[in-house]
Amino acid sequence: MVENTGVENTGSIEALLQEDRTFPPPEAFRRQANIQDPAIYEEARRDPEAFWAGFAEELDWFQKWDQVLDWKPPYAQWFLGGKLNVSYNCLDRHLTSARRNKAAFIWEGEPGDRRVYTYKDLHREVCQFANGLKSLGVKKGDRVTLYLPMIPELPIAMLACARIGAPHSVVFGGFSAESLRGRIEDSQSRVLVTADGGYRRGNIIPLKQNVDDSLTGQSPVEKVVVVRRTEHADDKMVDGRDIWWHDLMATQPLTCEPEPMDSEDMLYMLYTSGTTGQPKGIVHTTGGYLVGTYATTKWIFDLKDEDVYWCTADIGWVTGHSYIVYGPLANGATSVMYEGSPDYPDLDRFWAIVEKYGVTVLYTAPTAIRTFMRWGEEYPKRRDLSTLRLLGTVGEPINPEAWVWYWENIGGGRCPVVDTWWQTETGMVLITPLPGITTLKPGSATQPFPGIEVDVLDEAGNSVGPGGGGYLVLKKPWPAMLRGIYGDPERYVQQYWSQYPDIYFTGDGVKIDEEGYYWLLGRVDDVINVSAHRISTMEVESALVDNPNVAEAACIGKSHDIKGQAIVAFVTIKNHVTASDALIAELKQHVTTKIGAMARPDDIYFAAELPKTRSGKIMRRLLRDVAEGRALGDTTTLADPAVVEALKEQYGDDE
Ligand code: WTA
Repeated sequence: MVENTGVENTGSIEALLQEDRTFPPPEAFRRQANIQDPAIYEEARRDPEAFWAGFAEELDWFQKWDQVLDWKPPYAQWFLGGKLNVSYNCLDRHLTSARRNKAAFIWEGEPGDRRVYTYKDLHREVCQFANGLKSLGVKKGDRVTLYLPMIPELPIAMLACARIGAPHSVVFGGFSAESLRGRIEDSQSRVLVTADGGYRRGNIIPLKQNVDDSLTGQSPVEKVVVVRRTEHADDKMVDGRDIWWHDLMATQPLTCEPEPMDSEDMLYMLYTSGTTGQPKGIVHTTGGYLVGTYATTKWIFDLKDEDVYWCTADIGWVTGHSYIVYGPLANGATSVMYEGSPDYPDLDRFWAIVEKYGVTVLYTAPTAIRTFMRWGEEYPKRRDLSTLRLLGTVGEPINPEAWVWYWENIGGGRCPVVDTWWQTETGMVLITPLPGITTLKPGSATQPFPGIEVDVLDEAGNSVGPGGGGYLVLKKPWPAMLRGIYGDPERYVQQYWSQYPDIYFTGDGVKIDEEGYYWLLGRVDDVINVSAHRISTMEVESALVDNPNVAEAACIGKSHDIKGQAIVAFVTIKNHVTASDALIAELKQHVTTKIGAMARPDDIYFAAELPKTRSGKIMRRLLRDVAEGRALGDTTTLADPAVVEALKEQYGDDE
C-alpha cells in the first residue's frame, strides 16, 4: 500500500470542504445545452455498454464490432471485432458535408503569424504526410516519435501516423535531450519528427539541437523529419539522416487510403511519470479511445458547429492528445491552437486571442488561472470576452478562490465552469460536471461522467460513502482506459491493479460530501503536480544523485500559490564536498539537463542525513512538514528522530 503522503497535508483542504457556494447552470446556458435531462445518468448506469455503443454508432466503422466489452480484470477490450481508422473519423467523415470547408484549426504562432486549416486542408496535409512517412519506410505498428512545438505540423503528424497505423509517441518540447533519448530508446522509433525550433516567450526553443544531442551514439532513429519554423539552424541538417518536412511533402500524392485498424490496435503511447524513476509509456488503443474522447468532448464542452473551442494545453501532454486533437476533430469542431506563452508580448495575450477569434469555449489549467489572478483583472478587462459561454479546467485541484475568479472575471458570471478530473491513463475525462445539468460547487469536480462508476476506498478496501474520504478507484472499465505500459506488462499490474485486486487505483485522494460530490485532494503517491505537470519524486531524485557531488536525495512537493506544488529537494552531499550556493545552482541546472526545466527544484536544502524509517524508507511526509514550516507529524516510525529535528532547526522557519 502507498504511504499516505498527500491527503492530510494538502494545504487548503479545510477551506475547500467549507466551500458551500453553489452555482446552478445559468438559465440561458441550460436552455441551449445539448444535454439537459439528468435521466441520462440513470440510463447509462442501467446499461453502460449500450450507452457507449450509442456514441460508437455516431462514428464511422469499416466493420462493426461484434462485442462491446470484454472485461477480464485487469484487461479490458472494447468494441471487439470492430475495424476503423481514427484519422478517417477525424477528417474524411466531415468531408461529405459543409464541414469540409469549416476551419478545423485556427492556429496562431507566438510572433503573431497565423494559419487556418479547413477540414479539407487538414485531410490533404495528413494524407501527404502519411505518404511521406510511408516513403521513409514506416509501416503499420512502427512507432514514430514526435518532438515538436505547438505548430499545426504536430496534429498533422499525429493524424498521419493514425492513418497508416503507426503509433505515435509525442514527447513534450520542454523535455531535455536526455529525456528524449530515453523515450526514443524505449519506443524504438526509427523515425523522428521535429522542428528546427519553436517560439516561447520571445525565445527560440532549440528542438533540433536537442534532437542532435539525443541521437549521439547508438540510436534506433534512422530518419529525422524537420519542420522549418524558426529558420535559425538551416546549416545543421545531417546528410542522409535529416530531411526537411517541406521537401518530403513536395512530392507526395494528395490522398492516402486509411489503414483499417482493429479496435484494439495501438493508437499511441505517451510517457508519463509514475512512482519510479523511469517514465512509463501509457498505451492507448483505437476504438475505445476514440469513442471515449468523442463522447466526453461532445457532452462536457457542449459543442455546437458554430463554436470556437480553445484548449490551451500543449499537445505534448494527454490533454492535448484527447482535447485538442482527437476529441474535437472527431466532433468536427473548430479549435484555436496557440504556439506560445500567455505573457508574450503582454500579459493579455490569451484574452487578445479570445477576442480576435471569438472563442466560445475555453479549457485551461488552474495554475494558469492563478497566474492570471496574480497579474490582475486589468488584462482580461482590456479585451472583449463576451463570446465565451463555457469554461473548463484540468490538471490539478482548483482552489475555490481561483474558480470564482475565473467565473467572474473571465466568464462574466454567465459561463459554467467544468472542472474535469482525469489522467494520462484514463485517456478521457471521468469526473466532471455536465454544464447544462450539474449544479456546480467551486473546487469540486462534481460527479462521474455518465456510464462511469468510481468509488472511494479506505486502506482496508472498504467503500467510505458520502461524508468520507480515501483513495479514488475505478471498479469498472471505461472505453478510453489505458491498455498497458509499453513493453512492461508486469508494471501495469503492479502500478494500477495491486493495491486492491481487480480495482484500478488512481493514486489520488478524494473526499465525497453528503450530496455525493467529489473533491479531489491531490496525489497520495510520490508524484508531484507542478503547474499541472506530473513529475515523479524518484525521477528528480535520480537526476540529483546522478551529479557526482550528491550522495542521496529526497524530493517533495511543497504547496505553492501559483503552481499548486513546487519541488523541494533535500540532498546529502558526499563527504569531501562543501555546500554552497554555487552547488545549488549546479544541481538545479543538472536536473534541467537531465529532465527539463519543469522538473527544476525551486529550493534545494542540504541535509546531513535524511529522515528514514527503521526499514530505510525515506519519510517524505516529514520533509514536507519541514519545507512547509509545519509542526512535524507522527515521527514514531523514524529510525532517528534527531535527523528531522536538525532539519527543522535549519530550514523550518523559511516561511
Ligand atoms: C491531477 C492530466 C484535481 C490528478 C489530465 C491526476 C486533477 C493527475 C484534475 C493526472 C482535476 C487532473 N482536479 N486533480 N480536475 N485533473 N488532476 O496524467 O492528481 O497529466 O491523477 O493527466 O492530475 O495528470 P495527467
